[in-house]
Amino acid sequence: MATKAKQMKAEGIDVVSFAAGEPDFDTPNKIVQAAKAALDAGKTRYTPTPGTLELREAVAAKYLRENKLEYKPSETMVSTGAKQCVYNAVQVLVDEGDEVLIPAPFWMTYEAQVDLAGGKSVIVPSSLSDGFVPDLDRLAGAVTPRTRAIMLNTPCNPTGAAIPTEVLKQIGALAVKHDLWIISDEIYEHLTYGHDHVSIAALSPAIKERTVTITGCSKSFAMTGWRIGFIAGPLDVIKCMTDLQDQVTSGATTFSQSGAVEALRLDVSEIEGMRATFEKRRDLIVSLLKAIPDVEVFNPLGAFYVFPDVSAYLGTKFKDDVQLADWLLEEAKVATVPGGVFYGPGHLRLSYATSEADIKKGVERLADALAKIPR
Ligand SMILES: Cc1ncc(COP(=O)(O)O)c(C=O)c1O
Repeated sequence: MATKAKQMKAEGIDVVSFAAGEPDFDTPNKIVQAAKAALDAGKTRYTPTPGTLELREAVAAKYLRENKLEYKPSETMVSTGAKQCVYNAVQVLVDEGDEVLIPAPFWMTYEAQVDLAGGKSVIVPSSLSDGFVPDLDRLAGAVTPRTRAIMLNTPCNPTGAAIPTEVLKQIGALAVKHDLWIISDEIYEHLTYGHDHVSIAALSPAIKERTVTITGCSKSFAMTGWRIGFIAGPLDVIKCMTDLQDQVTSGATTFSQSGAVEALRLDVSEIEGMRATFEKRRDLIVSLLKAIPDVEVFNPLGAFYVFPDVSAYLGTKFKDDVQLADWLLEEAKVATVPGGVFYGPGHLRLSYATSEADIKKGVERLADALAKIPR
């Protein structure tokens, strides 16, 4: 949908896009300058596959400072975006026929990556009325002798949910009991509203030894195009992932790694402006969506997505959210992503990584368009 919206914009059509999966801010200048300096200094050759020592030291310090997780630099690695971190983890931890529990709605890449490893995704639904928090009984009920791992994403794309610490503890206990790996994707860790981010691996040594924690630069520092992700976990897993990455992409881009070192050195206050702007936009978009009749909205606790339930508008003119999202783009010139692609049917995902003016204009168009649908 994002690509389609961009194409329409290029054709001169006035589209409001809520489809973006990336911050609309520029990368902070200090980070850009660090990468430029690296280029000027001739840092244009290969780095070690798991990343430069300088960056891995900064990553280990970051995990200790922000995630309360103690890792040696050798227990961390750098990949080409958090996406490759997830890929490495799934390839190394999941064998042919293994089952991976994935709480839904979820970022669709997880299922594709489990498929690529020959595994089987076992999708465990949650709902807006539960605040999109994974349901422990359902998770426990989905465990079989073939279950190998649980995939977690907090804060979550597409729902904006954040898993409460108590639930993280219970999920951790479930993993310990059944000897499961936890792949914890925490790429939105800095974008939280009204609470501090908690890493599941920090909750007990027994959880830590079976968890890989994935973070990165893309969302927190507006660095999506730099392609830098981080992963921390047990040394043997890091070694296997390094061997894999060695045959796939080698080390991440050298001068991007220099920029990432600078990103991790920035005082959190330097990215606070972006977080605060997202929070303001969240408040705005949630209040506007709540004013639309029969649209149910969960107030996101993190990331930059809102995932309203529009099922009241389905079943008459439109069969499902995919048809609705297509029509909204064609007729109302508003780009959203249908919830079905995230295993959240009946919902739309709206990214508020866009200006307040666009949020107002886009939600107004959405409301006008929905008003034309018989219920
Ligand atoms: C939940 C989640 N994990 C990982 C990523 C990928 O991050 P990166 O750009 O660092 O590969 C995304 C991007 O949309 C995401 O939403």
